[in-house]
Amino acid sequence: MDSKALYKISYGLYVVGTKFDGKYVGCIVDAFIQSTSSPVPTVILCSIQANQTNAAIKQTGEFTVSVLGTDVNPFVIGNFGFQSSRNADKWSNVPHKIADGLPVLESAVAYLRCKVTDSKELSTHTAFFCEVTDAWRGEGEPIIYGNYQKDMKAKAMESFKSFKETEKPPEAKEERWVCQICGYVYDGDTPFEQLPDDWKCPICGHPKSDFAKE
Ligand SMILES: Cc1cc2nc3c(=O)[nH]c(=O)nc-3n(C[C@H](O)[C@H](O)[C@H](O)COP(=O)(O)O)c2cc1C
Repeated sequence: MDSKALYKISYGLYVVGTKFDGKYVGCIVDAFIQSTSSPVPTVILCSIQANQTNAAIKQTGEFTVSVLGTDVNPFVIGNFGFQSSRNADKWSNVPHKIADGLPVLESAVAYLRCKVTDSKELSTHTAFFCEVTDAWRGEGEPIIYGNYQKDMKAKAMESFKSFKETEKPPEAKEERWVCQICGYVYDGDTPFEQLPDDWKCPICGHPKSDFAKE
């Protein structure tokens, strides 16, 4: 069997946006189709059971679908498809807005809001059956999944790899206490808050109260 024949099925490529324990999560999907159009439009999403997005949809019962355009930044695909929301805040890495409580991509050529009405577990995936409760259409043409496989996958992998390499290590993101007079960054072993009140900046001699948390 030539499994690449399946790439000739005309899926699009989408970013699902939803929420888990109040945090915005989501992932790239191609397995998303319209199933009926009346009396209300309905769609089906096939979501990998092991993914955080799957757990989030089960918790929230709703999600958005941002339709990716042909000019999508390949990083968007890497960001949402090559890492899990369990250990990354994916939405903070891309321009987005919150539409009625759920995130959508600024660069989407269209987006839908979907409400789960039923679901079925299919070995590795869950098929979510949904009603479309809102929809917005912008400019641009949607990307086709087969074209992503042909022309964009390598770029998505490359841009995601460079992003990971330039990401600051977690320590660099931690808050730090900085002397507002001379710029000295406190680096002692005792937590700054526990230093005695008469402690002074070792560089300029100003008091503890001249330090600010950054
Ligand atoms: C091009 C592409 C298509 C994908 N299609 C689907 C899909 O249809 N359904 C799905 O559940 N995951 C799909 N994935 C996988 C998820 O996007 C990926 O596992 C993601 O890291 C899950 O993140 P999460 O744990 O934050 O949900 C696809 C990934 C890529 C790169």
